[in-house]
Amino acid sequence: MPDIPTHLFTTCQVGAEGALKAELGRTWPGFRFAFSRPGFVTFKLPNACGLADDFDLRSVFARTYGFCLGKIEGENAEQMADELWALVGDRPVDVLHVWQRDAALPGEGDFEPGRTTLADEMGTIIVSRRREAGPKPSPLDVNRRAHQGEAVLDCVLVEPNQWWIGRHRAASFHSRWPGGVCQIELPPEVVSRAYLKTAEALHWSQLPIQAGDRVVELGAAPGGSCQALLDRGLIVTGVDPAEMDESVLEHPDFTHLQMRSVEVRRRDFRDVRWLISDISAAPAYTLDAVEAIVTHEAVNIRGMLLTLKLSNWGLADEIRSYVSRVRGWGFEYVRVRQLAFNRREMCLAAMRSRSMRRGQKRPSRARSPR
Ligand SMILES: C[S@@+](CC[C@H](N)C(=O)[O-])C[C@H]1O[C@@H](n2cnc3c(N)ncnc32)[C@H](O)[C@@H]1O
Repeated sequence: MPDIPTHLFTTCQVGAEGALKAELGRTWPGFRFAFSRPGFVTFKLPNACGLADDFDLRSVFARTYGFCLGKIEGENAEQMADELWALVGDRPVDVLHVWQRDAALPGEGDFEPGRTTLADEMGTIIVSRRREAGPKPSPLDVNRRAHQGEAVLDCVLVEPNQWWIGRHRAASFHSRWPGGVCQIELPPEVVSRAYLKTAEALHWSQLPIQAGDRVVELGAAPGGSCQALLDRGLIVTGVDPAEMDESVLEHPDFTHLQMRSVEVRRRDFRDVRWLISDISAAPAYTLDAVEAIVTHEAVNIRGMLLTLKLSNWGLADEIRSYVSRVRGWGFEYVRVRQLAFNRREMCLAAMRSRSMRRGQKRPSRARSPR
């Protein structure tokens, strides 16, 4: 029997459900909104939609997504795990991803998205209840990063006693991580949580940044993001009228220009290859500031990571105009995503040309450490 999906599940940041619904309503008018909880939204798919299990949803707000197999409710995890395997049937499974929908906005209180003890414990129970035909069942990994092309079984703990089961095939960067949240190794002392979002942005965007390259960050204080860039061996200039953390200031590859971005002389950007912006202002202000730099004839920025603040969700409707504005500056390859470690904001990644992405053929030079 062909495995025809009827519903799609998506997970997103708490509060982003409306923006996600509106976005998919535009891109996929045949999808019908079905069920939602904060951070979790499902859609009924049109009949025989013919979508492949690694299709690209082209979504800014969906962290990850897959086809629904069903919902399980109960009080006993072992029994729920048995029901899960009954739903899975004889579908192939290479790796199991179990995660809880977000409990809060990233950075609120101590909350950060990602692995939880409960999800890991449920994963262990689910694997222990797997019965496979044959004398030697193959081991099943829980919550490791899937390899491209692997069949992922998704178990979303929408509530501890309500699991939504789904499946997808690992393809894009985020689809390989449980719940679309990549694991970032943090240094012992992190200056600010912006470390997380810049590290995630660097992984996701595939900007071919190499150790020794010069990068400028607008809106750099107190410096978590600069710390992530310095950890990659970059030569970093932070532009911000506010104070930088001492540990960043002390780094030999860091320079602080204690001023607003409009006050920086254009020639100070001459040898800079990459631009990061995390200015606490509306997207229009950030884009004006960036445009004034990257369109200057003495400047040759090859790629950018811009954090665009969503002070209201209505700004999500402007994404297409932001993208075309950045393309108009000569950046051929532009993508936007609400990263797992973004707060009420999203990340715009831009490159002069698509062929620059990491992993594409280019002249040999040592790669930056990953
Ligand atoms: C979200 S914080 C940046 C966090 C920082 N990226 C980190 O890694 O810790 C926003 C910063 O934007 C700065 N800012 C606001 N307007 C600016 C401007 N016109 N030029 C440069 N920085 C600006 C603020 O002073 C503030 O420190």
